[in-house]
Amino acid sequence: MQLEHRRIVIGITGGIAAYKCPQLIRLLIKQGADVWAAMTENAEKLVSKATIEALTHHPVADDIFAAPEDIGHIGLVSKADLYLIAPATANTIAKLAAGIADNMVTAAALSAPCRTVIAPAMNSRMYRHPATQANLETLKERGVIIIPPADGDLACGETGPGRMREPEEIAAYITALLSHTALPFAENTLLPQPEAPRELTAQKLLPKANGAGLRVLITAGPTEEPIDPVRIITNRSSGRMGFALAQAARERGAEVALVAGPVHLQTPAGVSRISVKTAQDMYDAVKAKLDSVDIVVGCAAVSDYRLAYVYDQKLTKEEHGDSLTLTLIKNEDIISMVGHSSPRPFTVGFAAETHDGDKHAREKLQRKNLDLIVLNDVSQSGIGFNSDENAVTVYDRDGKVTEIGRAPKSAVAASLMNIIFDAARAAKGTA
Ligand code: C5P
Repeated sequence: MQLEHRRIVIGITGGIAAYKCPQLIRLLIKQGADVWAAMTENAEKLVSKATIEALTHHPVADDIFAAPEDIGHIGLVSKADLYLIAPATANTIAKLAAGIADNMVTAAALSAPCRTVIAPAMNSRMYRHPATQANLETLKERGVIIIPPADGDLACGETGPGRMREPEEIAAYITALLSHTALPFAENTLLPQPEAPRELTAQKLLPKANGAGLRVLITAGPTEEPIDPVRIITNRSSGRMGFALAQAARERGAEVALVAGPVHLQTPAGVSRISVKTAQDMYDAVKAKLDSVDIVVGCAAVSDYRLAYVYDQKLTKEEHGDSLTLTLIKNEDIISMVGHSSPRPFTVGFAAETHDGDKHAREKLQRKNLDLIVLNDVSQSGIGFNSDENAVTVYDRDGKVTEIGRAPKSAVAASLMNIIFDAARAAKGTA
């Protein structure tokens, strides 16, 4: 059951090979996947909607205007781990390349926050046509994975490339891709094309899915410790770095939970957010998820102390006069608890330091039993706390030090998640 907890959306278009979809769906479900389907009008002429609904146990999305929210062109793919368009006709491939969204399958492709895989199926002359080849190249550069069609007998009576891969082959490919095991065949092998200058690379548009199959929990933002019903102790953390990390992790194919303190930031698409206020709430939220994650990144600026006693009525000057003493007690260190847990996820902490950063970072890495620590020099203006940019240094347990130079937090987050995923995979022995 390698696809357990995986949501796969299959977009079915009007190629004869649509008759292979029921078998393909059955095979994905057999591996534990939750499969949802979108169909074009032409697809419904070739395979019955009722069959697909009976197999998936979900309504088929086929009408952009009439669909309820969860199977609308945005809702359908928003929680998906993978969007598979099979069969993908020459016509649909051309629409995808141009960004046309005129039916449920193409509209869902435009809004899909997850990896998109297409299995082309068509007559070999249509497949060989420079227009189709150029469209496939465009999709490939955008990071769409193309399952190359096989060479063989075609429904039109001709022989040549254009035959959709068999359901068993596609299911095996999808299973390997999502469970991060060896792929059964090479994707993206198109017909040889003359070299043309290209401005955009797939890397720029869609990062490598080096987080696929990994479950990541990220803490972000400040915490709030109540003093009385109207007052709190908090800090200047904006949460932007943690949210950028969550987005970068999701874009790399990981399943991401974001435990966020009180910030007004939009949750990145496809990320599940757990909102908390106090350090204790954050501790409980992390602890509850600990058994079901592979990586924990502690990016939150957690309050080190809380009130020993929270006043249930507003403190007044009349009552307390010229001075007021509050007693604070220490909060549990969340990332240290994670680092010392067993079984233990790959654990990454942050160190926001104003001086002796190098020394403090190395000491915290040891004391909190972390795999990596990310040093943030918060004494420099324009980076770190409440800024748009950051520059960090990453330390690992073997003494390796990696600098990530000053850049927008989204770019720093992208580099950081690449380092974290590569190190976590190496630690698991699946590099
Ligand atoms: O010890 P210091 O607060 O500098 O350590 C910072 C790191 O520890 C960050 O990763 C932060 O998210 C984490 N931390 C925590 N729980 C606390 C205090 C800090 O997880 N109570």
